[in-house]
Amino acid sequence: MIRLEGIQRRFVSDEVETTALDNINLNVKEGDFVAIMGPSGCGKSTLLNTLGTVDRPTQGKYWFDEEDLTALDEKELANFRAASLGFVFQSFNLIDELTVEENVALGLAYRRDVKDRRSRVTDAMDKVGIAHRARHYPHQLSGGQQQRAAIARAIVGNPKLILADEPTGNLDTANGEQVMNILSGLNAEGTTILMVTHSPSQADQARSRIEMLDGRIIASTSRAL
Ligand SMILES: Nc1ncnc2c1ncn2[C@@H]1O[C@H](COP(=O)(O)OP(=O)(O)OP(=O)(O)O)[C@@H](O)[C@H]1O
Ligand SMILES: [Mg+2]
Repeated sequence: MIRLEGIQRRFVSDEVETTALDNINLNVKEGDFVAIMGPSGCGKSTLLNTLGTVDRPTQGKYWFDEEDLTALDEKELANFRAASLGFVFQSFNLIDELTVEENVALGLAYRRDVKDRRSRVTDAMDKVGIAHRARHYPHQLSGGQQQRAAIARAIVGNPKLILADEPTGNLDTANGEQVMNILSGLNAEGTTILMVTHSPSQADQARSRIEMLDGRIIASTSRAL
């Protein structure tokens, strides 16, 4: 489903040059659950942002379902993201001024093709056990509830791929396990997941593992799908 070839991302600022991604080659099969690990600053978030097409590589090719995404313009990429991707972040990234259901509905904001919006939103909230907080605002929720609302927003458009950057990083163990169970459940239903984590036990719950260092992939292992 995903193929990266020779991906490089170089940042230049104030005469400091950082090669955040250095010749990354990667294949991810549909249905996989990949844990991305490595020390702070090794390029994990940059890799996820590149896969999410919110950051553009300075070199290399990115194919998604045999389509060359590096050839698309911003509008085409926005359509691709809206139709195919769901994002989950460490800091939840909910909009404070919107209720849970309004936040979840944002996941369909760029989807003119979707008709049954209300039932989609309800289904997504049900799936992660947050429907009873539909009319609440983010600050009225626990961290675990906020992350579950954020996952509902990520899955409301039924994405093929979920990109999760340390999704349990701000959660206690119990809430972290709940989020992992939700992600594992989504993967069991066929959603492909790439997740950055610092937790070896969480990486064990994934099917595959990528280890990064200094912008490179230094090891990768995968179990049969
Ligand atoms: N917008 C940017 N401008 C300049 N340098 C950047 C930018 N974004 C990332 N970098 C640099 O690229 C490198 C990789 O950063 P990245 O955020 O991908 O690391 P990470 O593996 O996600 O780390 P962490 O575990 O701390 O989240 C770092 O050296 C960082 O300083
Ligand atoms: Mg990061």
